[in-house]
Amino acid sequence: MSLSAIKILEKDFELSGEEMRDMIKDFHLEMDKGLSERFSSLKMIPTYADKPTGKEKGKYIALDLGGTNFRIVSLTLKGRGISSGHHVMKFKLRNKDITSTGKKLFGFLARSVKKFIEENRISPLQHIDLGFTFSFPVRQTGIDSGTLVTWTKGFGASGVEGRDVVALLKKSFEEEGIGNISVRALTNDTVGTLVARSYSDRDCDVGVIIGTGTNACYVEALHKIKKLGGGCRNSGTMIINIEWGNFNKLKATRYDEQLDKESDNPRAQMLEKMVSGMYLGEVCRLIIKGLISKKILFEGAAPAGFNKKMLLKGEFVSQVLADRTSDLADTKVLLRRLGVKDPSFEDLKVVRRACELISTRAARISAAAIVAVVTKIDPHVIRKHTIAIDGSVYEKLPGFSEKIKEVIGELSGRSSGKIKITLTKDGSGYGAAIIAAISTGKIGASDEE
Ligand code: GLC
Repeated sequence: MSLSAIKILEKDFELSGEEMRDMIKDFHLEMDKGLSERFSSLKMIPTYADKPTGKEKGKYIALDLGGTNFRIVSLTLKGRGISSGHHVMKFKLRNKDITSTGKKLFGFLARSVKKFIEENRISPLQHIDLGFTFSFPVRQTGIDSGTLVTWTKGFGASGVEGRDVVALLKKSFEEEGIGNISVRALTNDTVGTLVARSYSDRDCDVGVIIGTGTNACYVEALHKIKKLGGGCRNSGTMIINIEWGNFNKLKATRYDEQLDKESDNPRAQMLEKMVSGMYLGEVCRLIIKGLISKKILFEGAAPAGFNKKMLLKGEFVSQVLADRTSDLADTKVLLRRLGVKDPSFEDLKVVRRACELISTRAARISAAAIVAVVTKIDPHVIRKHTIAIDGSVYEKLPGFSEKIKEVIGELSGRSSGKIKITLTKDGSGYGAAIIAAISTGKIGASDEE
């Protein structure tokens, strides 16, 4: 019984080599459409940011909003690709912080910044330059301004969509009495990650996040950004925020369809809903729920909890995949905690297989998307490309990063040696500081202290 259930699941979640190659073709078409402002599921947002020279200098504060934590970092860039003097503060965001009003959310950010300044004894009279990493689809209007197109990842504070988020931040700073802070840069986490890595690695031209949400950015030639009238510095390139989480040309299972229908943003962020940490647990819950109702799992005895939306977090999938016991004893403990009285070994194997399939599909989609971006920049992969990557799924989901590398090999054959994937931890905030330095023009000679 369970064997055929597993076979059906395997078929549902399979993404063959041929399907990935088709996905790459569709990705290229959508990228081109997005760059020329035709309707596309890929927004391809010009960021007004470019790769750094490695000579950027100065002291900065960076804010990082976009996942389960809000982070504040202070750091000093010394040129020559070196930074120092980090202070970090992390604030956990509760659901009510991110779904009430924009005024409350931005008020919370300003109060946290005030606390950070006080605790780190930064003089209130000192002029402070700040980089703001705001990881949502933002229609940028300049390096330090942009309007939120739509919230993603369960955020929903009212009165922010369609508004300039830097203006909202400045207003909240003034209200907290810290209006002396200058917001110099507005950036996405993928852009921060790319910029942070390329401060010391000239081959870095792609930034990827696979965490609560998923997205990527890359360095594009200005003349290919058809929808952009003007220029950006004289290097002839600009970083494009792809917003790949919204790519919608993927084969969806009935579980994906149900998840999407019941989500707070139906028909949006389809790739994100198959790949990112915010949704992996929910896909798993829907599979388990479906198998319970078919009496394939737990003899059909459904713990009521399994009807609760978002009951399972991404960590559940991680913990199941981390179970190294031969009798899946750790998985049994996890299921018992969720109210399953006495799962059989067969049940445990089905749950384990479901987690493997969800995670493998997520890795294959991510790898194909990475190859699509690299081959958009360099169709025959002649040059070296460093992919700066960060995010809890990439870093913590057992076997995930290995699988991505393996699939990149499967898709690019010999040229995969040219594609280097580097975990770039916390690059998003650090990159925002570098962009703030570019924006203020604080660039010294590379051999200066
Ligand atoms: C979501 C956001 C995107 C961000 C990504 C990773 O997809 O829309 O801007 O980069 O999550 O945090």
